[in-house]
Amino acid sequence: RGAFRGQITLDGPSGTGKSTVARGVAARLGAAYLDTGAMYRAATVAVLDAGVDPHDADAVARTVAAARIEVGTEAGTELVLVDGVDVATRIRSAEVTRAVSAVSAVPAVRRQLVDQQRALVASAEVVVVEGRDIGTVVLPDATLKIYLTAAPEVRAERRAGQLGITDAAEIAVLAADLRRRDEYDSSRADSPLRPAEDSVVVDSTDLDQQGVVARIVELAASTVAAG
Ligand code: DC
Repeated sequence: RGAFRGQITLDGPSGTGKSTVARGVAARLGAAYLDTGAMYRAATVAVLDAGVDPHDADAVARTVAAARIEVGTEAGTELVLVDGVDVATRIRSAEVTRAVSAVSAVPAVRRQLVDQQRALVASAEVVVVEGRDIGTVVLPDATLKIYLTAAPEVRAERRAGQLGITDAAEIAVLAADLRRRDEYDSSRADSPLRPAEDSVVVDSTDLDQQGVVARIVELAASTVAAG
């Protein structure tokens, strides 16, 4: 049986373990990997460093157009540069996380980064691309489209675990923040978060990350068998 060749898209809201799963799948398949969220986060660093209000769409568009955003396409490393400066750690800061929804809602920013995303994966024989609109907008002809979901409470608990938070009231705040970001990302006019019609919805509420990786690798193998 031949190995999987093609593009796997992995979309869904935050807190589903999407990045870990995407990297795990890429490692199992020997695939390239692209984290498009990291690109929107890098654009947000450029906006904040320029002193631009993330809600000023015109200024955001101009600032991001002038910024050089570079990301790696290997699952094992996290390379993120803005104008040659390493921002891999900064893109995960609370400041960036707060501002990124506004920056990623600007249509000119999306067009610019979508073009860049397509160019980055164009030559890859096997690639896993994660984001919000990969199956719907960026790679509509992808070989396998996965939409990863999980109950908000479960997502909040996982996020809390990563941050070392155990207080129930603080976890409730995280759950509320996740719901607010989902709502914002799903209701924006340009490329709202939603499953592609031809995607396979994988609910990770009752699966650990290894289980989700195994399920997706299985789905990839079955596209080879079917083709
Ligand atoms: O997956 P993440 O948390 O790193 O994504 C950061 C933000 O970027 C999130 O608010 C949604 C947005 N995003 C997007 O609009 N489109 C993508 N393809 C990826 C991320």
